[in-house]
Amino acid sequence: MNADRQAFWRGKRVLVTGGAGFLGSALCHALAGLGARVTAIDAMLPDGGANIANLEGAGVLLVRGDVREVELHSLVTGIDVLFNMAAQTSHMGGQRDPVADIAINAVAQVRLVQALREAAPAARVVHASTRQFYGRPIRLPVDELHPVQPPDANGVSKFAGEQYWLLEQRVLGRPVTALRLTNCYGPRLRIRDARQTFLGIWLRRVIEGEPFEVWGGEQLRDLAYVDDVTDAFLAAAEHADAPAIAGRAFNLGGAPPASLLDLAERLIAANDGEGRFEVKEFPADRAPIDIGSYHADDRAFRAATGWAPKVGLDEGLRRSLVWYRARLVDYV
Ligand SMILES: NC(=O)c1ccc[n+]([C@@H]2O[C@H](COP(=O)([O-])OP(=O)(O)OC[C@H]3O[C@@H](n4cnc5c(N)ncnc54)[C@H](O)[C@@H]3O)[C@@H](O)[C@H]2O)c1
Repeated sequence: MNADRQAFWRGKRVLVTGGAGFLGSALCHALAGLGARVTAIDAMLPDGGANIANLEGAGVLLVRGDVREVELHSLVTGIDVLFNMAAQTSHMGGQRDPVADIAINAVAQVRLVQALREAAPAARVVHASTRQFYGRPIRLPVDELHPVQPPDANGVSKFAGEQYWLLEQRVLGRPVTALRLTNCYGPRLRIRDARQTFLGIWLRRVIEGEPFEVWGGEQLRDLAYVDDVTDAFLAAAEHADAPAIAGRAFNLGGAPPASLLDLAERLIAANDGEGRFEVKEFPADRAPIDIGSYHADDRAFRAATGWAPKVGLDEGLRRSLVWYRARLVDYV
């Protein structure tokens, strides 16, 4: 393990919102391993990736609470770093109930911003943002100057939340960075159903020996493996006060782009050739908010921090299958 990284995190007080979810829990495990004092807050919402099993063995304090209403002052007092991962992440969910969506992704963000102003004025913030609000790309790869054209309510609320956080840097000088993530995958992803990326349900079906569905098939994705995403969040926090980083939103991609059909074949190959899939038309209710092909131009973040993904797609798929096969009962 990198000694500078360990020295940076040892004894740091860190709050991870959404800490029982997929990416938040991965961060909790990594931070605890680096010697940070970690508190996770999570509302354990049933439709997202929250899972108590995600924090098994992490050795972090989990506060069950909702950032829309919980008393935030005492939670944020004295923290050195906030990893802000809590969100309503469902695109269809945001369309169905945009008021609940914006309450979490934007209004509650302002509550957090204000609590930090009062009780943690020097804390660094890394905010989990999304590529979703670029909408259907007008060019590939997508860099940070690509127009923002949210295709759904969730894209609007996530963009608003990100902008409130970046304002804190522009107005008050707080070290804040936002990472606009591509589709992420790996251990602790929700695989029970298709609510958290298509790959979740694909993994489940392959492990259970059932066929999975590929909707469309030609769309490109640059999947990011969870360990690389965790590494990017740590790097963003470590560099958050550098002029090249502070107040900026960066795209974060992953593996070189592959079509969904290619991904399906590679998932089966990673499962020792076992598995099958059916190609279906994109469902009519989802088609209007589909973004087509996406892959990130994340050269800005790489240049600013030295980060680069380390886990290739085939290896990431293989590791994911091994991980879930041993813990299926906790995730289905
Ligand atoms: N996973 C991806 O592919 C991906 C892609 C783009 C952006 N992101 C962003 O990364 C962040 C983490 O995503 P994830 O995939 O880990 O999702 P997740 O659903 O697994 O985790 C989010 C967690 O936040 C919690 N949460 C939601 N609302 C809350 C509230 N009001 N108060 C407290 N906790 C609340 C949920 O219970 C859940 O555990 C989100 O902000 C998401 O928008 C993720």
